[in-house]
Amino acid sequence: MSETHIPVLRNEILDFIKPKPEGVYVDATIGLGGHSHWILKKSQPSGRLIGIDRDVNALAIAKKRLLPFKDRLKLVHGNFAQLQRILESQGISKVDGILMDLGVSSLQLDSPERGFSFQHSGPLDMRMDTQMSISAYQIINESSSERLTKIFKEYGEERFSKQITQQIISVRDEQQISTTKQLAEIIEKVYSRYTKRSKKSPQKGKGIHPATRVFQSLRIEVNSELKNLTLGLESAIPVLKFGGSVCVISFHSLEDRIVKHTFRKHAKSCICPPNTPVCICEHKKSLDIVTNRPMMPLTSEIEANPRSRSAKLRVAIKV
Ligand SMILES: C[S@@+](CC[C@H](N)C(=O)[O-])C[C@H]1O[C@@H](n2cnc3c(N)ncnc32)[C@H](O)[C@@H]1O
Repeated sequence: MSETHIPVLRNEILDFIKPKPEGVYVDATIGLGGHSHWILKKSQPSGRLIGIDRDVNALAIAKKRLLPFKDRLKLVHGNFAQLQRILESQGISKVDGILMDLGVSSLQLDSPERGFSFQHSGPLDMRMDTQMSISAYQIINESSSERLTKIFKEYGEERFSKQITQQIISVRDEQQISTTKQLAEIIEKVYSRYTKRSKKSPQKGKGIHPATRVFQSLRIEVNSELKNLTLGLESAIPVLKFGGSVCVISFHSLEDRIVKHTFRKHAKSCICPPNTPVCICEHKKSLDIVTNRPMMPLTSEIEANPRSRSAKLRVAIKV
């Protein structure tokens, strides 16, 4: 099991956050504390950091790893969708910088018992917060075929959504699907049947394991990742001090789209529909976008840490 997670785009994040001794920072996805370590180090001797994660195991490792900074660190088990409320509970109203490094950590991916990966056999789980009641097991075994197809299509952009759903339903009639291995085998079977016959143009991302998209879509559904991201961003912007930055690292296009649109909305001074004669929205510009196009890791970073290959960083500053 991996207890280290190489922080993606670390130098870029530090350049944007600019940690300083009097600063207060939020790592909304502290994971194993990789980015936080550097923010705390660069904001010595008195910069403070609030580290949030849904995963209690990650928090326990971050706590150990960040022990030298314990007097300046507050760890919170929670969902960044409630960022504003979490900060209020800590008596904090404004902060100098916020980081969201989305997705799963190496700890989650490499722990078979968490059920995130098709590369290890484990229970079908995928809950970031193990106190939640719905896991991938319930979704796979209890959802209607319409719902399964929708999840695979919308969150995985899976071209064989219908066929995979049909195969799941027919296996489900005989036995419960309870492991990641079982599910991966069902998907592989569908792929080997249809990719031999299919004359369709190759799917974007061809070359990846056939189970990648379905596993991604299930993880998004189990953890309500897209809804949380929207709520988390809306909750982050009001708590930033003027000049403070919000940095978001995403790992797939659905997340990146939400970040892009949310930043653009808050960078406008009016969001009335086009052709509205007089502005009635009362919307106020609150962000300046720093990265018109997302920043991506350099080849050297991808070589050193292949998991960083799909990372995209967007940054905006409170105005
Ligand atoms: C990619 S890892 C972060 C790694 C971290 N930056 C590091 O360097 O160690 C993402 C983390 O975000 C957490 N997470 C995902 N969605 C969350 C949410 N809505 N609220 C809080 N934590 C979340 C996951 O549990 C996971 O530990």
